[in-house]
Amino acid sequence: MRAKVVTIDRHIIDQERKHPGASGRFSALLYDIALAAKLISREVNKAGLVDVLGKTGATNVQGEEVQKLDDFAQEVIVKAMDHAGHLCCMVSEECDDIIPIPGKFETGNYVLLFDPLDGSSNIGVNVSIGTIFSIHHKVSPGRHGTLEDCLQPGSRQVAAGYIVYGSSTMLVYTTGKDGGAHGFTLDPSIGEFLLSHPNIRLPEPPARIYSVNEAYYPRWSPGQQRLVDHFRGMNGESGGGYKSRYIGSLVSDFHRTLLVGGLFMYPLEKRAPAGKLRILYEAAPLALVCEAAGGRASDGARDVLDIVPKGLHDRTPLFLGSRHLVDLAEQYLREGSES
Ligand code: AHG
Ligand code: MN
Ligand code: MN
Repeated sequence: MRAKVVTIDRHIIDQERKHPGASGRFSALLYDIALAAKLISREVNKAGLVDVLGKTGATNVQGEEVQKLDDFAQEVIVKAMDHAGHLCCMVSEECDDIIPIPGKFETGNYVLLFDPLDGSSNIGVNVSIGTIFSIHHKVSPGRHGTLEDCLQPGSRQVAAGYIVYGSSTMLVYTTGKDGGAHGFTLDPSIGEFLLSHPNIRLPEPPARIYSVNEAYYPRWSPGQQRLVDHFRGMNGESGGGYKSRYIGSLVSDFHRTLLVGGLFMYPLEKRAPAGKLRILYEAAPLALVCEAAGGRASDGARDVLDIVPKGLHDRTPLFLGSRHLVDLAEQYLREGSES
């Protein structure tokens, strides 16, 4: 007997029914994100054929070279989201400041923060890339979004998720801890995201996988070095028996961690004293998904979801994955700083 076919639209409506107070606005917001994801997926899957590969020659607020697909994804999301009346503003990795809703459109009570294309360095080599999104309630008075509406802790997110454009296109989202984390796989033949991974839970025991860019080892703190030595079983460290897997696209490294377990790390290092990954549209949304699936997300000392960013593009070190492995990372970093 075929399992029942549940589209993301049906799932969102069912979830909404569980929250009587939820307005249809929020569901419509998620539909629009799913639409933008389909449009980006179509372009990503043609990337080798049409002129969306390569660099634009511009650099973004992060000082990184902007890829054409970064621009395309940015454009698609803004155009899909700016006119429906759900948002008071948007924040993107690709824009220095808040993206206002044009005066001709109705505004709403949500804020959308997003990384339009994550893993840009992998675009030209056909390695999985992604999009990450975070949704907050508007908290300031008045119609238009302000910094106050954007600089909220991750624990206040109304919803968060990501799309991974890989061997298949998958959308994973959560409406917070009690809502669980759910995965939908795009069936391009009907243009629908179908529920394929209901209630994702990080497996216990987790796969013995650690994920970090080991090239930076010499620039890590002593505690970070000892932690990876532990996973490598070096210098008589108790650990060992781990595999190392690092794709270089946060969304792909996280998606693997979510499905099989393990520990993803982007630690601080001498050249990135605050870490590299951005709080608002990379760390916080994935932290919400991870915690909803029974995992943990830390900056090495405290929960990522408790961090209140001071700037739109503030960064944080990130330890994401199986609960006890994140705890272990915090322990090694604490001991490293005490020795
Ligand atoms: P983005 O492409 O949105 O700038 O993000 C890239 C990030 C993230 O996807 C990945 O985990 C990290 O950069 C890889 O950084 P390193 O190349 O320093 O390992
Ligand atoms: Mn990114
Ligand atoms: Mn990006």
